[in-house]
Amino acid sequence: MSGLTDTLEGYKVSRLEHSLQSATRALKAGESEEMIVATLLHDIGDELAPMNHSEYAASVLKPYVSEKTHWIIEKHGEFQTYYYAHHFGGDRNKRDKYKSHKYYQACVDFCEKYDQASFDPNYKSLPLSKFEPMVKRIFSRKPYSHS
Ligand SMILES: [Fe+2]
Ligand SMILES: [Fe+2]
Repeated sequence: MSGLTDTLEGYKVSRLEHSLQSATRALKAGESEEMIVATLLHDIGDELAPMNHSEYAASVLKPYVSEKTHWIIEKHGEFQTYYYAHHFGGDRNKRDKYKSHKYYQACVDFCEKYDQASFDPNYKSLPLSKFEPMVKRIFSRKPYSHS
């Protein structure tokens, strides 16, 4: 995490700041600890799996989080294209194919409230140390007992 200080291309904040800002927003919105941790780690695959970073992050989280949290993280990349794909001649409505899915709205909300909102260079995020105990608690859970 602490190594993710290089700036995201085209964005005003580093990967680490984006992650902390997303997680801070989730915390302040009263999300569960599991969801706060998932939000902190939602882009963890960005560097290692640039073509499917959401699936990568979701796989890391999968044994320790609910099916719902896993789904949101796994699909967030496709849902996020809503915010930029049209600028590059792509389809911004990829998320529509999930419209009838039970977690569709939850993923729309995640993207709007935590992911897309968290590129603000002036936002005061909580430090990584605030989230470390939460990460430890979630990853100390009995694997595959939360779905
Ligand atoms: Fe992402
Ligand atoms: Fe993100």
